[in-house]
Amino acid sequence: MRNRRAALAAVATAASLALTLSACGQSGEGGSEEDKGGSDGATIGIAMPTKSSERWIADGANVEKELKAKGFKTKLVFGEDDPDQQVSQIENMITQGVDALIVAAIDNKSLGNVLQQAKDADIPVVSYDRLILGTENVDYYASFDNEKVGELQGGYIVEKLGLKAGKKGPFNIELFAGSNDDNNTRYFFQGAMNVLKPYMDKGQLVVRSKQTDLNQVTTLRWDGGTAQKRMDDLLTSSYRSARVDAVLSPYDGISIGILSALKSDGYGSGSKAMPVVTGQDAEVASLKSIISGQQTQTVFKDLRELAKVAANMVDSVLNDKKPEVNDTKSYDNGSKVVPAYLLQPVSVDKSNYKQILVDGGYYTEDQLK
Ligand code: GAL
Repeated sequence: MRNRRAALAAVATAASLALTLSACGQSGEGGSEEDKGGSDGATIGIAMPTKSSERWIADGANVEKELKAKGFKTKLVFGEDDPDQQVSQIENMITQGVDALIVAAIDNKSLGNVLQQAKDADIPVVSYDRLILGTENVDYYASFDNEKVGELQGGYIVEKLGLKAGKKGPFNIELFAGSNDDNNTRYFFQGAMNVLKPYMDKGQLVVRSKQTDLNQVTTLRWDGGTAQKRMDDLLTSSYRSARVDAVLSPYDGISIGILSALKSDGYGSGSKAMPVVTGQDAEVASLKSIISGQQTQTVFKDLRELAKVAANMVDSVLNDKKPEVNDTKSYDNGSKVVPAYLLQPVSVDKSNYKQILVDGGYYTEDQLK
């Protein structure tokens, strides 16, 4: 057992002994903290990036639930998409003496100093969903196969346009990517490009705006309003005399922004069919949009499973066991290759959402009405 935890356990044992003595003869006392599954009353700090997207609210709740089931205490904070705020929140949790940290970064490069403080205080760190870059002080990474997410989005477009079945096109497509300070962004984009680029090279997919480099298509902080504005501009500059057939969107919040711009331009009514629009996270607003025939697809990542992976990692590390990982090659953060456990994403559209999400117990039918 780690020294810090041994000391904590000793304090907890003494406290529980005192409690037992003073409560001697009384029945119905619950177990002391260290009885609850090996947690020794340890507290886990959880730093989530924002409450502005429902997925992170669900992540926070799921991670807390999993940790509490193992007998841990938790402190959960949300950073309002402000990197400085997230740094001070983590600093506070270190000062308050948390025993481990689970962090979904806002800006993947801004946490080096604060994670050094964590290291100095012997606090292990699990990078949650988004890899933290440029520091040795990240112990494990819990996420999904992020390149696969992009491949599912790109693959969906190719299939839906009929390219895979032999249609020649050309079809017009525009590309959107996530926030440039989120490490996942380049994996999602790379995955999509793995599938789309061969068709772009053959002229079957045409990006009329010519904005095809990652740094031309990112969306700071994954903001839907920013994406809406860019889509407005693209429609004005490149689609006065042409129609857009597909839009690669990396995330549901961005898809909703893109769809607003498209709707304002008359898409989705009369003879102007909505283009294929992808997404990610299976958020309720996007599922409703998919059911009503606007957004076309999303990528579902089972956050219940991600929370379990992260909680198991913390539990193992704090009990001097090796956490289960399934990838020790892919995620180099610039200072080290971070051992990871990667879950599998699933493509969801109107044809399979019931089976995957409703039958899978993720949402009830009523939630999607
Ligand atoms: C990414 C995450 C996506 C999406 C996005 C915006 O890091 O992997 O699933 O949630 O952030 O929040």
